[in-house]
Amino acid sequence: MRTAGVNLVTVGVFAWSSLEPRPGVFDLDWLARVLDLLHAHGIRAVLATPTASPPPWFSRLHPDALPVTADGVRLTHGSRDTYCPSAPAYLAAARAIAAKLLERFGTHPALAMWHVHNEYGAVCHCPHSTAAFRAWLRDRYRTLDALNDAWTTAFWSQGYGDWDEIETPRATRYLANPGQDLDFRRFCSDALLAAYVQQRDPIRAATPDVPVTTNFVFGAWVPVDHARWAREVDLVAIDDYPSDAGPGAQDQTAFAGDLARGWARGGPWLLMESAPNLIYTPGRMHAKEPGRMAAHSLAHVARGSRGVMFFQWRQPRGGAERFHSAVITHAGADTRVYREVVALGDKLRTMTPGVPDNRTAIVFDAHSWWALQGPGLPAPVDYLDEVRAAHKALGAADFVFPGEPVDRYRTVVVPALYLLDDAQADVLRRHVRDGGTLIVSYLSGVCDEHARVRLGGHPGALRDVLGIRVEEFHPLAGPVGLEFGATAVRENGMFWSERIHLEGAVAEATYVDGSLEGLPAITRHGKAWYLSTRLGPDGYARIMAEIVDTER
Ligand code: GAL
Repeated sequence: MRTAGVNLVTVGVFAWSSLEPRPGVFDLDWLARVLDLLHAHGIRAVLATPTASPPPWFSRLHPDALPVTADGVRLTHGSRDTYCPSAPAYLAAARAIAAKLLERFGTHPALAMWHVHNEYGAVCHCPHSTAAFRAWLRDRYRTLDALNDAWTTAFWSQGYGDWDEIETPRATRYLANPGQDLDFRRFCSDALLAAYVQQRDPIRAATPDVPVTTNFVFGAWVPVDHARWAREVDLVAIDDYPSDAGPGAQDQTAFAGDLARGWARGGPWLLMESAPNLIYTPGRMHAKEPGRMAAHSLAHVARGSRGVMFFQWRQPRGGAERFHSAVITHAGADTRVYREVVALGDKLRTMTPGVPDNRTAIVFDAHSWWALQGPGLPAPVDYLDEVRAAHKALGAADFVFPGEPVDRYRTVVVPALYLLDDAQADVLRRHVRDGGTLIVSYLSGVCDEHARVRLGGHPGALRDVLGIRVEEFHPLAGPVGLEFGATAVRENGMFWSERIHLEGAVAEATYVDGSLEGLPAITRHGKAWYLSTRLGPDGYARIMAEIVDTER
């Protein structure tokens, strides 16, 4: 580690059964030896609480704290993350083991940071979760009338007359209720956050000078609103594993780094996990070719990461992740991976993290992402892909989140912001009124915060500022041609198109084939642009370069 320039190590993630082998019987000495050893060599520790993996004795004692899937299957231990974040026994046990670590190691000189849990993201439908979901809904809606209205429960006879009739969105006969589905994701984010906070608060109180964080994991399955969570950690920390084995991995890395800086509101953040030698695509691992690890690592540092951390130091002999990425592999330290890490360590010694100063921001909204995974949409729209495509087309951008001001930006880009409440629509309206450029893509502003469609034409919340009215969606099975009026440049649109009426805007590009031939495809109303289809990467980059206000 010293040769490689390692100065920070995460320890204890998932170590619960080693730290508390029997209920109430603790063995912390081995961890003390590890921390002492690190300290003796000038290496500091990020000490994790092990609560992402309760030991077998725990689930035997508290079977009610095991998670239940949407199909009603009660999972058992034997993997990891087998807990319900709302089960009282789990919460109590998590507090207790965290308190033990705090008591023993809170003053250890190696302690640099606390790492609560690991990658919060577990979903549960057990009776504890159901009760907690009902309480969360009562708190949000106060009355059943308000809930019935928000969820449009008159449709298909779903009207609730008693809070106890409400279930989590478990397996049902046909399409579930979109409002219920969306609120459940919100609830999951808050339930997990409460599980984090109940560990964080005593730690903070006892060691106020030691930052507390948790590592953010990002993916469609994660019901966590990281922009909200970022306010509860002392340092935003992310895990980043690109899933594209080709050149797209670099775009994914840039996206993850810019997003992390957005969560950190431009401040410091940390790449807490990354893979030294592998890229994981679904079902297959790919060796990172020489140089790629450094490229990914430095891309994060350039975007503000205070360092580069890897999962994992040493590849284990057994266990589910025995073939996962590592600095010291099964082959030992005489490897090109280790040598590359040593070279990176050398480089990082003299580097300072980048401080990008972008004047373009993309609006990212976890809730719109969740809603666009909901039931009964006109076509499968991959929200993340929409945002990534916009980010790639821009090359670099900051991220902002609903509720945040945008006044430091000249251009605000709004891809597929399906849910838009009145307050956020006002923020965008004001941005244009104050002379800013706005670029909105299809499916934005269609619904209110309850995933109810705004009436009178799309994009309901932004019709006035965009000067258009969308009468009808035309999701595409194949490409459609469009042409820019001023330049006669032709492009192909994908995935989506719309029948647009101009109400003040002008058509910058027009559909040239298909059933919308001759109708507007891309419109402009002053400095407010609307893209009703998805351009290919080159066309998207070209139009962004033309529209984005680059004046400083
Ligand atoms: C991370 C996780 C680690 C390990 C790693 C494997 O998401 O936090 O514990 O599972 O993935 O690549």
